Amino acid sequence: MANITFVEASGQSTTVNLADGWNLMQGAIANGIDGILGECGGSCACATCHCYVDESWLDNLPPASENELGMLENVAAERRPNSRLACQIKATAALEGLIIQLPETQE
Ligand code: FES
Repeated sequence: MANITFVEASGQSTTVNLADGWNLMQGAIANGIDGILGECGGSCACATCHCYVDESWLDNLPPASENELGMLENVAAERRPNSRLACQIKATAALEGLIIQLPETQE
C-alpha cells in the first residue's frame, strides 16, 4: 500500500491509499479525481492518463517501457522530462508519499 497525492491543474490536492498492484490511473479514477481519463483502461494505448511525476521521485520509479515512451509522444498537454503514463506505474510500498501533478488537459 502507498499513499499517493494527486495535484490537479486547479491546485486541488487529493491523497489516496492504493493497494499494491493498483496502477495510478485506476486509483485516480476510483477516487473521483479529475484530470485523468484512462480511456483505454490501462493498456498503454490512449495517453489520456498523462501525469507529471514529482522530480524528486523520478529515480525511484521503474523506467518507462518503449511502449510507454512511444505513447508519451501523443499526450495532449506539454510533454516534460517528468511525464509518465499513470496506468504504467503500479503502487507498491516503495511509492509511499509519491506526488503526481496532473496536466490541464488529456484530450
Ligand atoms: S489509460 Fe490509456 S495509456 Fe494509460
